[in-house]
Amino acid sequence: MNILLTGGLGFIGSHTATVLAAEGHEIVIIDNLSNSQRQTLDSLEVITGKKLPFYEGDIRDVPLLKEILKKHHIECVIHFAGLKSVAESGIDPLKYFDNNVSGSISLIEAMQAEGVKKLIFSSSATVYGVPQYLPYDEEHPLAPMNVYGRTKLQVEEILQDLSKSDPDWSIVCLRYFNPIGAHESGLIGELPQGVPNNLMPYICQVVSGKLPYLNIFGDDYDTKDGTGERDYIHVMDLAEGHAAALAFTNATKGWEAINLGTGNPYSVYDLISAFEKSANQAIPRVVKERRSGDLPIYYAKAGKAKQCLNWQAKRGLQLMCDSSWKYQKLLADAF
Ligand SMILES: NC(=O)c1ccc[n+]([C@@H]2O[C@H](COP(=O)([O-])OP(=O)(O)OC[C@H]3O[C@@H](n4cnc5c(N)ncnc54)[C@H](O)[C@@H]3O)[C@@H](O)[C@H]2O)c1
Repeated sequence: MNILLTGGLGFIGSHTATVLAAEGHEIVIIDNLSNSQRQTLDSLEVITGKKLPFYEGDIRDVPLLKEILKKHHIECVIHFAGLKSVAESGIDPLKYFDNNVSGSISLIEAMQAEGVKKLIFSSSATVYGVPQYLPYDEEHPLAPMNVYGRTKLQVEEILQDLSKSDPDWSIVCLRYFNPIGAHESGLIGELPQGVPNNLMPYICQVVSGKLPYLNIFGDDYDTKDGTGERDYIHVMDLAEGHAAALAFTNATKGWEAINLGTGNPYSVYDLISAFEKSANQAIPRVVKERRSGDLPIYYAKAGKAKQCLNWQAKRGLQLMCDSSWKYQKLLADAF
């Protein structure tokens, strides 16, 4: 199929591109490079052995989107483009509503105008909010605790209304848990701009000497070792989940929300120990106060993905850490 990836040079989009290209799909990418780098395109071309059409552009540019959809005979869009910092979304909410919500509306307008009605949307476990029960299943109440999560929920709702208004649409909202890890080649991985917000890129920067120590925000939660627990999922498993979702959109119409997680929570200390094993060195750490807005623990009920997509995560925590470390070392060698 001919598939457009918005935000396809970012962390999850680039890994998904490798899986879809290996399955023989034709990939086109649009990305405004606000949180990615053009060199990722070169790495993708090395991995896939293909020249990938790339547009440096913004999803809020409807005429450009229409032109791309028409020129490349696009049949499905996987919509990764979005801003993802919870902290920044609270400081600059309009930026997040404009980019994530208005941007999605522009994309949908262009798709509708060109008759492209298959869409896979990058949603997030943040749509659930404070757990009423765990694991979160897709029927869990939706009450995001931050602006970022509200932008994701608003887009999900717009897409659901769209599908009710026009039954020709086939839409899957994938609610990701906590993707980490890197492609097995070590050529692509997570490359955040500035000081990382997430645990894994932060650990990578501590181990490679760019940051002095790791902050652990709270070790007195009611969890197995006192630190926060999350459902970390290997980004290649997540990427394969998109290939499965693509097959699902071809076979069905309507709107679905589906969790992509492993169903297994790991603590901050689990992740640190596994990474220390990968890098064969100790990670300096300092325990700080809990951060407001952090949940002690959450993880996915992964059954709907298995049932609807015939997909489940298969890579474990050690492989997540080994692949991140391999990417980090190649990155350090390159500079
Ligand atoms: N990484 C996670 O932990 C996580 C978890 C849940 C959901 N998500 C969602 O998945 C999607 C992909 O996440 P990621 O981790 O790959 O993030 P990322 O920042 O690495 O990738 C997003 C890409 O979109 C591009 N982009 C942003 N706004 C754009 C716009 N207006 N026009 C064109 N390009 C634009 C960025 O340059 C970047 O390359 C995002 O929508 C994110 O909110 C991510």
